[in-house]
Amino acid sequence: MKTYIVGNFKLNFTVGEASIYLHKLLKALPIYRDVEVAIAPSTIALQPLSLQIDRHKMKLAAQNAFYRDYGAFTGETSFSQLRGIVDYAIIGHSERRHIFGEDDKCVQKKVAAAVRNRITPILCIGETESERAFGETADVVRDQLIGGLAEVSDDEIDRVIVAYEPVWAISSTKAAKLATPDEVAEVVKLIRKIMKETYGEEVAEKMPILFGGSVNSSNAGAYLTVPGVNGLLIGGSSLILNEFVDIIEIAKRVRS
Ligand code: 13P
Repeated sequence: MKTYIVGNFKLNFTVGEASIYLHKLLKALPIYRDVEVAIAPSTIALQPLSLQIDRHKMKLAAQNAFYRDYGAFTGETSFSQLRGIVDYAIIGHSERRHIFGEDDKCVQKKVAAAVRNRITPILCIGETESERAFGETADVVRDQLIGGLAEVSDDEIDRVIVAYEPVWAISSTKAAKLATPDEVAEVVKLIRKIMKETYGEEVAEKMPILFGGSVNSSNAGAYLTVPGVNGLLIGGSSLILNEFVDIIEIAKRVRS
């Protein structure tokens, strides 16, 4: 299985800034066949960057899209419009769930819409700080995983990536708020167990699981060596080109 390194720019960078970043990233990166690199800039940057990108080196991801393909949905962009422009879409990110009120029903329609449009969904799941404190992590992860995948057929389930992003570990500057490799290992094991019970062993073993939450070049190696982790979903550190390149190099080293 490849190692996935995905940079989520969130609401940062103008189209021009994203284009300059991509230009520099393409220059800095060799082609790594076993490390799949993707960046997720703002929706507005996706189309121009799709003309600039070298898909042998890296791919584009959407941060979000709407589940209906067309119609009276002012302000939305559909997965069908993004078809051919992006290879991946981040779906159900905690900021979408908590700031924009996306629930598992909405997330499951988006995952299905991505698959229908030949875009690989990166389904984000993870518990909040209080859910963890109340011992609800396993239930939350189970609900978000089973809920998010509910509209994907058994034939298409092997086209999904899951990202475990504990909400409390996102954008953290304090060491106490970083997920430990052991905490990550425990939840990743649980995700594979739920997948095995629901879809069988082969699907569970082959599904890529990424980790996200304040990943930087100092802790990337530790997270990438957690059993069952197949890659990283990176916010803040992906905005700093050298940092992002360092993490990609670490991923390459961990593989070899
Ligand atoms: P940070 O790496 O900034 O914590 O963000 C993680 C994240 O939410 C990626 O989707």
